[in-house]
Amino acid sequence: MEEFVTDSLSLPAFETIARNIAKTVRRQDVVALSGDLGAGKTTFSRAFIRTFLPTEGEITSPTFNLVQLYSTPDFDIWHFDLYRLKYAEELTELGLEDALESGVSLIEWPEIAKQVLPNERLEIFIENGKNNDERRLRLHYSNHWKDRIHALFKL
Ligand SMILES: Nc1ncnc2c1ncn2[C@@H]1O[C@H](COP(=O)(O)OP(=O)(O)OP(=O)(O)O)[C@@H](O)[C@H]1O
Ligand SMILES: [Mg+2]
Repeated sequence: MEEFVTDSLSLPAFETIARNIAKTVRRQDVVALSGDLGAGKTTFSRAFIRTFLPTEGEITSPTFNLVQLYSTPDFDIWHFDLYRLKYAEELTELGLEDALESGVSLIEWPEIAKQVLPNERLEIFIENGKNNDERRLRLHYSNHWKDRIHALFKL
């Protein structure tokens, strides 16, 4: 895994990055989103999903259902929130294997699933920025993501 940390980002800049990453995804991609409560994992996911489904109604947080599925012409986007998941065994029931095999997976609170996630993945840690309403993204990216991240951030 390589690492890149962004500058301090306002909300619009944060959402722009989410959209730009979304534009590069393909089937079988995994984006793991970590950060404290209220860090911005769902905000990132909404902007990401909205890139493919501009006319979709409200994109809700899967806090209680743990997973929300969105269909796009090219793949399904599986939006997981594993905060309330107690046992990793339940990941199959939630559809994680299907998601990994043929969809794009966006995973909030991914820690419980780390054992079963592929090594090829983008990990995003959302951290505090300089000011209250700013965030930084700490990106850990595997080989499959390298060219894309380098192009996006001109590395
Ligand atoms: N620069 C910023 N980037 C992202 N979110 C921001 C920023 N500034 C303010 N916010 C706000 O922070 C909040 C983030 O909430 P969000 O639900 O996305 O967090 P979360 O990480 O999904 O929390 P949870 O752990 O409860 O699922 C939103 O209200 C968002 O508008
Ligand atoms: Mg959330």
